Amino acid sequence: MRRRVSPEVRGSTVAISASLNARQRQAVEHGDGPLLVLAGPGAGKTRVIIHRVAHLIESGRAEPGRILALTFTNKAAQELVGRVHDLLGESIGSDVWVGTFHNTCARILRESAVALDIREDFAIFDQESQDAMLVECLRHASLPADLGDVARLRNVISARKSAMEDPLDGDVSLPDGEDERVLSQPGFLDALRVAIEEYERRLGEYGAYDFDDLLKLTVERLQSHPAVMAKYHAKFRHVLVDEYQDINYTQYELLRLVAPEPYRITAVGDEDQSIYSWRGSDPKWVRRLREEMQPTVIELDEHYRSTRTVLHAATELISRNERIRETALKTNNPVGEPLYAYALANEEAAAAHTTKLVGLLHREAHFAYRDIAALIHPDKCSEANASEAFKKVSYGVQIRYS
Ligand SMILES: Nc1ncnc2c1ncn2[C@@H]1O[C@H](COP(=O)(O)OP(=O)(O)OP(=O)(O)O)[C@@H](O)[C@H]1O
Ligand SMILES: [Mg+2]
Repeated sequence: MRRRVSPEVRGSTVAISASLNARQRQAVEHGDGPLLVLAGPGAGKTRVIIHRVAHLIESGRAEPGRILALTFTNKAAQELVGRVHDLLGESIGSDVWVGTFHNTCARILRESAVALDIREDFAIFDQESQDAMLVECLRHASLPADLGDVARLRNVISARKSAMEDPLDGDVSLPDGEDERVLSQPGFLDALRVAIEEYERRLGEYGAYDFDDLLKLTVERLQSHPAVMAKYHAKFRHVLVDEYQDINYTQYELLRLVAPEPYRITAVGDEDQSIYSWRGSDPKWVRRLREEMQPTVIELDEHYRSTRTVLHAATELISRNERIRETALKTNNPVGEPLYAYALANEEAAAAHTTKLVGLLHREAHFAYRDIAALIHPDKCSEANASEAFKKVSYGVQIRYS
C-alpha cells in the first residue's frame, strides 16, 4: 500500500529539496541499490539522510514504518528524530524507525523476545549504571586504584563484545595502546578477569544487558532464528546509516542481517571524523562496504556550516593527515572573522594566555562569559592547571567544565 505524505508536508518537502545541491539531490533520489555518501563535516550528509527518508515515502517506494534510520549516539539520534519530524510532520515521522543501533536492537529484542527465546522484561544498563557497577567489580577484584580504572575495564569488555566474543573466553587482553607499565604489573590480568567475571555475574543476576550485549545478542539471535530474521528483512525496505564511519564489526553484521542483498542501504559518513576506534570502528568498514556491497559512491563537496576562513584552516590541518581526503570541500559562505594562532612555550604559558584573552574578550569586546568556550586538549593541558589559571581571572565567575 502506498502511503502519501500530507499535501502540506509534501509542499515543504518539495520546497526544501529544491535547496539541495546537485550531488545531494542525486543521493536523495538514488534508486533502491546500495549508496555510500562520503563528505567532510557540514557538507549536508545528515540532510541527505533526512531528505532521502522523505523522498522514499513521498515517491511511494517505502512506507514510513518500513524505513530504519540508524546512528550511534543518543544525541545524534535525537537530532535525526527532530529533523525527520520537522520535515515529515510528527504523525508520519514517528512511524519511521529512527534511533541508535543500541535502542533499535533493544526494540527488536523486546518486540520479538518470545520468538527469539529471551526474557521480555530485561533491564538495560546505560553507561552510567554500567560504570557504577564496574566500580564495585574493581573493588571486588581488589585492583589497586591506579590500575583499576573504570574506563579501562569498560573498554576491555566492550572491545571483546563488539568483536562478537565472550569477554571471558580465552585470555583477558587489553586493547592496543595500553602502556607496558600496566601490563607488566604482576597479577593484573588475573585481577581483571575476576572483575569481568563479577560484572557478568551481576548482569545475569539483574537480568540486564549492557549496550554491547544488546547488539551482540540481537545479531546472534537473528542468526539463529531465521524466521524472525526473515520478518525484519521483509519489514525494512530501506536502511539508512548516519555517521557510518563509527561502525564496528557487530553493527556491520546487524546491517547485513536486516538489509541483506540487494543491500537497500544508504550509508553516509566521513572517515576523518571517526571517534570510536577503541570500540572497533575502523575505516576498514568503509572499504568492506565498498567491496561487499558495491555501492554507488557520491562525494559531496560543498560546505555549509563554517566561514571560508575556518574551512580553509581545517583543510590545511587535515591535509597533514596520513589519509588524504579525495574531494576537498569548498564553500560559498562569507570569509568571516580571522583566526589567531599563538605558539606558547608550555602548559602554564598557554593557560595564562588563554585566560588573558578571555579577560580581553569580556572587558574590551563585551562578550558575556557564557558565550566564551575554551577547549582543552586533555593530553596537553591538565584540567587542574587550566582551572588554576582560570581562577585567577574569573573573579568568582563560575566555570563549567564538560
Ligand atoms: N544544500 C543546502 N543548502 C543550504 N543549507 C544546507 C544545504 N545542505 C546542508 N545545509 C545546512 O548545512 C548545515 C550542515 O548540514 P548537515 O548537518 O546535514 O551536515 P553533515 O555533513 O551531516 O555534517 P557533520 O559531518 O557534522 O555530521 C545544516 O545547517 C544544513 O541545514
Ligand atoms: Mg551529520
